[in-house]
Amino acid sequence: MAFPEKFITELIDRSDIVDVVSGYVRLSKRSGANMFGLCPFHSEKTPSFSVSPDKQIYHCFGCGKGGGVISFVMEIENLSYPEAVEFLAKRAGMTMPEETNSAESRKRARMLSLNKDAARFFYSQLSTPAGAAAVAYIRKRGISPAMVKNFGLGAAPDSWDSLVNAMRDKGYTDYELFDAGLVKRGKKGGFYDAFRNRLMFPVIDVRGNVIGFSGRILGDGEPKYLNSPETLVFNKSRNLFALNLAKKSKSGYILLSEGNIDVVSLHQAGFDSAVASLGTSLTPEQARLISRYTDQVIIAYDNDGAGIKASQRAIGILEKLDIKVKVLRMSGAKDPDEFIQTKGADAFRNLIEASENQIDYRLRSIRDKYDLSVDDQKVDFLREAYDLVARQTDPARRQVYAMRVAEIAGLQADLVVADVERRHKRIVRGMQKTQQREQAQPEKLIQPAARELRYEDPASAMAEEGLIRLLYYEPELIKTEGLPLVSDFSSPVLGRIYEIICARIRAGDSVSADTLAADLTGDEMSLLITLLQKPEVLKNSSRSIADYIAKIKDRKQRSSGAADLRALSEQLRKTKGYEG
Ligand code: UTP
Ligand code: MN
Repeated sequence: MAFPEKFITELIDRSDIVDVVSGYVRLSKRSGANMFGLCPFHSEKTPSFSVSPDKQIYHCFGCGKGGGVISFVMEIENLSYPEAVEFLAKRAGMTMPEETNSAESRKRARMLSLNKDAARFFYSQLSTPAGAAAVAYIRKRGISPAMVKNFGLGAAPDSWDSLVNAMRDKGYTDYELFDAGLVKRGKKGGFYDAFRNRLMFPVIDVRGNVIGFSGRILGDGEPKYLNSPETLVFNKSRNLFALNLAKKSKSGYILLSEGNIDVVSLHQAGFDSAVASLGTSLTPEQARLISRYTDQVIIAYDNDGAGIKASQRAIGILEKLDIKVKVLRMSGAKDPDEFIQTKGADAFRNLIEASENQIDYRLRSIRDKYDLSVDDQKVDFLREAYDLVARQTDPARRQVYAMRVAEIAGLQADLVVADVERRHKRIVRGMQKTQQREQAQPEKLIQPAARELRYEDPASAMAEEGLIRLLYYEPELIKTEGLPLVSDFSSPVLGRIYEIICARIRAGDSVSADTLAADLTGDEMSLLITLLQKPEVLKNSSRSIADYIAKIKDRKQRSSGAADLRALSEQLRKTKGYEG
């Protein structure tokens, strides 16, 4: 459904792309008009994500994503066009035109309100007999009333229908509960509570919405936790438990732990920046989410094999985003909760202060793998350690750690330093070669970033891109004689973009990244922004457009000529029975 053009124009005017993007990406000004930052849509260490305040668009030279402010919000918040418009309208303090709330956004809003009501219900049960078992468990785990309130913990009663009934009374349908993952469907078609006899942890996103639940069994038993399934509003890999609280912390870092109970315990002990990754190992999306709030993470995973493995993986993911990572070394307890319960908050604070940076941590892990009194193993240790140190970009850092490696292995320091430097140079050369190889393929350069959109005929596609570019910048060129048909385009996706732009111009509507976002997919939008960045001389545009048209039609003729020939020989073969 379309929004009134006037509304969109005002919305865009009030949603400066630099302001909006700055809420997610640290932008800085380099030379020139554009602002740069680390792309929020792919992992990178050097900024290739640019925002143009003049054109009000963003574009990443790395992954090819691009668009206007509405596309940006769609992409980063995972919203549809109408939802992104609503999001920006709220931000700008504008009221939405009444009739334009989309069905999906209504459904989403309804699910969020259901989740909130369910959380309230679970919380309210704590002060009834039905919640007595959960209250006893809370007490047993040493969780304070303040934390119960802070996290909105609750009790799912030991019953098949207490939530169903409570929510029915509030006007929700069984199907709404089902879609939200709060009930399950029995063999006979009836619905029953999905969470029963459990301690409930609402999962709340950074905007304060209750998006799902995690329910712990009251004692031993399997499964220990039940989680909401993926729903319209809940995506485990894109959210972190307690980030809604941790984002307000003044500590300057995020404390990353594994368990919900650990997080509660940590907050209770005063470590108010603790989060947990909802039972998955840290995902790139979660890391990106973290990077919006801090550039330092301290990992406090469980003290077991799985925890160590998960730490290694998390380090890799976080480092790609330029986040400084430290790892906590805990001994004498299996997880942060147990550590705090047995040794106290001060002891934990000492651990934080003593936490190792990621190279120390990795170097120690490598060392622990080998028995250095055995020569063979020492060689393997050195190989791995050299590689780790040689990959550090900071020369001082390489030197310090090369010396550390020498010390561990009992080798001469300058020997190791020289070896590491040699290896470093080799790594850099390898990276440069790959880059050169990529740049030496001009055919590749014109290709869209999204693989599904590959051009079959790059030469014609270049002309098709040019035509689109000219029409975008100079809509009055729509009056040019002999504009090609959509079917004349060699690239279906460019044909689609062309068709949509022409239709808007003919209807007298404005053409911009923001208005086009209503009709184009994310990939199509990115492609459009990429092709708009390519140089175009607008001075002699009527001449250029004629050239582009000629090229497109010429290609079309050649290819349909070939098709005609094929059809003709096919016909001959059929009618006359011989090969043409
Ligand atoms: P843990 O087993 O370490 O749980 O799982 P915990 O929260 O620390 O609880 P306690 O201290 O043993 O009582 C870590 C996280 O993994 C997810 C949960 O998010 C949990 O907090 N998990 C665990 C599940 O999703 N399902 C499970 O069955 C177990
Ligand atoms: Mn645990």
